[in-house]
Amino acid sequence: MKRSVWNWLFLLSSFSLGLMFGVQMWQELFPEWRGYQAEYYRRLAQVTGDPSKANTPIKVQQIHLPEMKRVDRCISCHVGIDNPKMKDQPQPFRTHPDLGIHGFLEKHPFGEIGCTVCHQGQGPATTKLHAHGPVPHWGEPLLQKQLIVGTCATCHQNTDSLKGAERLVSARALFLEKGCIGCHNLHGKGMLVGPELAETWGKSVDQFDFRYVHGEETVTNWAVKHFKDPQAVVPGYPALGIPESSMPNYGLTDDEIQQLTALVLSFYSEEESEEHPIPSRFKVAGSQKPPEPVYNSKVEQGAAIFQKYGCIGCHGPQGRGGIGNKNMDMGEEVPPLVYVAEGYSKEELKEIIREGRYPGRSERGGAAPPLWMPSWKEKISADELDALVEYLYSLFPAL
Ligand code: HEC
Ligand code: HEC
Ligand code: HEC
Ligand code: HEC
Ligand code: HEC
Repeated sequence: MKRSVWNWLFLLSSFSLGLMFGVQMWQELFPEWRGYQAEYYRRLAQVTGDPSKANTPIKVQQIHLPEMKRVDRCISCHVGIDNPKMKDQPQPFRTHPDLGIHGFLEKHPFGEIGCTVCHQGQGPATTKLHAHGPVPHWGEPLLQKQLIVGTCATCHQNTDSLKGAERLVSARALFLEKGCIGCHNLHGKGMLVGPELAETWGKSVDQFDFRYVHGEETVTNWAVKHFKDPQAVVPGYPALGIPESSMPNYGLTDDEIQQLTALVLSFYSEEESEEHPIPSRFKVAGSQKPPEPVYNSKVEQGAAIFQKYGCIGCHGPQGRGGIGNKNMDMGEEVPPLVYVAEGYSKEELKEIIREGRYPGRSERGGAAPPLWMPSWKEKISADELDALVEYLYSLFPAL
């Protein structure tokens, strides 16, 4: 190469270096948050009618919480967050909403608990892009509004009747109705046919496969797309005999998906976090357990147990079937249970539930079906088993 080309290249690279340096300097002298703070104090002067407020010194503001291992600088921009006078201002100057809960802001003093404990996001960051995210490899960008409720369980040990957490109650009803626990373990309850759900939210983004997921590389986005269509997100490697996801596609509505995503987040929030421990004075004990339900009959009790253990997850509502199980003889589905009264004695049924069953390879060849019948002997009591079997017998259609 000619000497002059080298000279030009050198000039060009020093110019671009200089430009990068200049941009950096500019950002340090006039960072984004300075502009917001200056604007905030101008507005404060207007709202209070005190012009001296406009001259308040501008500085990085932060909530430092060594016990929780958090530093939240959100208030460098969200300066008016606990100033009731700023209710009608635009973001980021506006007073925090009180969720319609009397005393919400007093019970959650931001100076003591910060912001990211509820919102996630990157506390120490001082640009909106980095504080809100998503940025690569940061697994906890600012949560969407509908998902924040999942973090209430970080401190509230019982969210069954917590004001402001109603969406978790309807989400739990959905979780029970679909029988998720039949396939998923959760704090020692449930089965390990699928992953432990208390750990999902603690995984790093790198542990999820985004090849079949459009949009942001965040756990939220993965989870939402996966609920929408598990087989599209986890198609397996059919050529290598690795099957697609065996999680049913429930045809969930967007609202149901948001609820379940927040619920899975709340399972993780319940875990004791080493990364961000919560001092015990912020933990709110759960109210007493609800009274044991009273059942009118063994069959009614059995129906509740069928739900409690997630039999529905594989055998469908009322044991009517319809849950796919590739390579399973008879229709590639988990068998329905409506006719078991005809084929099995009550003792035989108890034996199946206690011991479980692995479907073998089909006579047609191919891999074994991905779903099997887990063994419940470690979990179910003799009384529950009695009631469950009465229920299964009751499913036999009357002619
Ligand atoms: C550099 C300034 C800046 C920082 C730092 C910052 N924000 Fe914001 N935030 C904004 C602005 C500006 C808006 C207004 C909406 C917009 O422009 O997206 C906003 C909006 C929001 C909203 C409303 C979301 C929406 O889409 O309407 C929430 C919630 C929020 N911020 C939380 C936080 C939390 C929590 C932190 C700290 C982890 C934080 N912000 C840090 C500037 C900032
Ligand atoms: C105890 C939990 C909790 C804490 C702590 C908390 N927030 Fe919030 N915040 C919420 C919830 C819940 C909402 C959503 C309200 C709703 O659904 O409209 C919210 C809403 C907001 C909004 C308005 C969003 C919008 O779209 O209108 C902003 C901005 C915000 N928070 C910023 C902050 C900042 C900054 C901090 C720290 C100084 C903070 N929050 C601390 C729970 C919390
Ligand atoms: C950092 C811990 C923490 C987080 C996170 C948190 N809270 Fe609280 N909350 C508290 C404490 C502490 C109290 C005060 C309890 C008391 O006075 O006995 C409280 C009180 C309350 C109360 C009134 C008293 C009660 O127990 O009914 C409500 C309602 C409430 N929180 C709702 C929420 C909601 C909704 C969320 C999630 C958006 C949330 N909290 C997140 C710590 C937290
Ligand atoms: C028939 C069994 C089955 C049922 C029922 C089932 N799942 Fe799954 N689920 C799986 C399997 C297998 C996987 C692992 C493969 C995959 O990611 O699709 C999985 C993956 C997941 C994941 C990803 C977890 C992680 O850490 O990677 C979530 C979240 C999830 N399921 C939630 C649910 C919820 C909520 C329900 C109930 C609405 C449910 N599942 C019902 C079998 C099931
Ligand atoms: C993870 C999926 C899964 C869950 C959850 C599950 N089963 Fe099964 N179950 C199966 C499969 C697969 C078979 C077929 C096994 C075989 O015969 O090869 C089966 C078979 C059965 C059978 C024998 C049916 C027949 O026609 O031979 C009974 C009875 C049964 N299950 C009851 C239950 C009950 C009760 C529960 C809840 C406590 C339950 N199952 C939960 C997957 C499941």
